[in-house]
Amino acid sequence: MPRATASLLRREDAESGPSLRQIWSRDWAKAFRDVRAETERRAAHLSPEDQVIQSMPDASPIKWHRAHTTWFFEQFLLKAFAKGYQPYDERFAFLFNSYYVAAGPRHARPERGLITRPNAEEVAAYRAHVDAAVTELIAGAKGNVLEAIAPIVEIGLHHEQQHQELMFTDILHAFSLNPTHPVYDPKWEPPLAQSDNEWAELPQGIHEIGHHGNGFCFDNELPRHQTLLRQGLIACGLVTNGEWLEFMADEGYATPSLWLSDGWAKNEAEGWDAPGYWRNIDGTWFSLTLGGLKPVDPGAPVCHVSYYEADAYARWRGKHLPTEMEWEIAANEGLLDDAFGLVWQWTRSSYSPYPGYRAAEGALGEYNGKFMINQMVLRGSSLATPQGHERLSYRNFFHPPARWQFSGVRLVDYD
Ligand SMILES: [Fe+2]
Repeated sequence: MPRATASLLRREDAESGPSLRQIWSRDWAKAFRDVRAETERRAAHLSPEDQVIQSMPDASPIKWHRAHTTWFFEQFLLKAFAKGYQPYDERFAFLFNSYYVAAGPRHARPERGLITRPNAEEVAAYRAHVDAAVTELIAGAKGNVLEAIAPIVEIGLHHEQQHQELMFTDILHAFSLNPTHPVYDPKWEPPLAQSDNEWAELPQGIHEIGHHGNGFCFDNELPRHQTLLRQGLIACGLVTNGEWLEFMADEGYATPSLWLSDGWAKNEAEGWDAPGYWRNIDGTWFSLTLGGLKPVDPGAPVCHVSYYEADAYARWRGKHLPTEMEWEIAANEGLLDDAFGLVWQWTRSSYSPYPGYRAAEGALGEYNGKFMINQMVLRGSSLATPQGHERLSYRNFFHPPARWQFSGVRLVDYD
């Protein structure tokens, strides 16, 4: 269990504003109901056929996300705390365990899309079964029992919110492989950027980063510790599509000297010439969005770029990507526009443990710590991140070639 969750029942939350914590203090059952309903709201736009497909090993079927988040509550909450609880179906633990080795054997990740049964309707029944049991458990919990279950309900809801974001990223990737450009939601509109072309001075000196206060955080945001910032400037705004088009026009994708060796190899292998989901139709660039194929807006932040592309772009501009420390301190001081809610921002920090970090023992200790290798940190949040899930100290992480997330670019400069 990540240590920060032990403080769940305290009411103060100086850092993160309105969040799940404040809701939970008043009504745990309501928080559970609300988060679970958001998953179903996101799935409601999709047919049973949409929900089966797995378009690549990194993405999962929507039906799997709905079932896996349910298994999480069954495995870590109900089996441990609900007296006499009967699993909905004993076979589901094998199908819907993701990577928790300590929780038992599991189905191969790249083959999740081969599972047609349980069908979407049966997954809905599985969710209803677990929802009823969790609601009953929360309703009957008092004192020590409530204190024991609260951190698990809490991490289960934050876990489900992470999968809500993945539902968007994964279905968009699946739709990107369909030549008819399917529309997830015809009413979907991109959030508007507030960015301008200003630069802010990074506050030079020793600062603290990492989570503080009593609000929820994942264990990878701890321990809070000191870090040293050198003099520099950080862009208040995000890199835009218009700026990216200039990079493309200047042969950015065809200039090896701009690229890391691994990045150039990936660029050549994939034949990249534009961000993910861009389509050139009769000389005009379009992008596949949750609202379907839309003309690329030059003023909007560039999205669906990999770390390799972000790094090459920064080199082309004669700038750099920020470290995660620079990002967090600048965001904490209010220097960043569009820090949250548009695109995750790649940092040049590798996803490593903070000094003194230790993963908890047991299966939930597998949540973050074992992935601290070969990945880069992204900061902020995206248009797909559910409300209330973002934090200044939040550390997202993906492999450098990944571009199916809503990932963009912010720059720093040291001259
Ligand atoms: Fe998960």
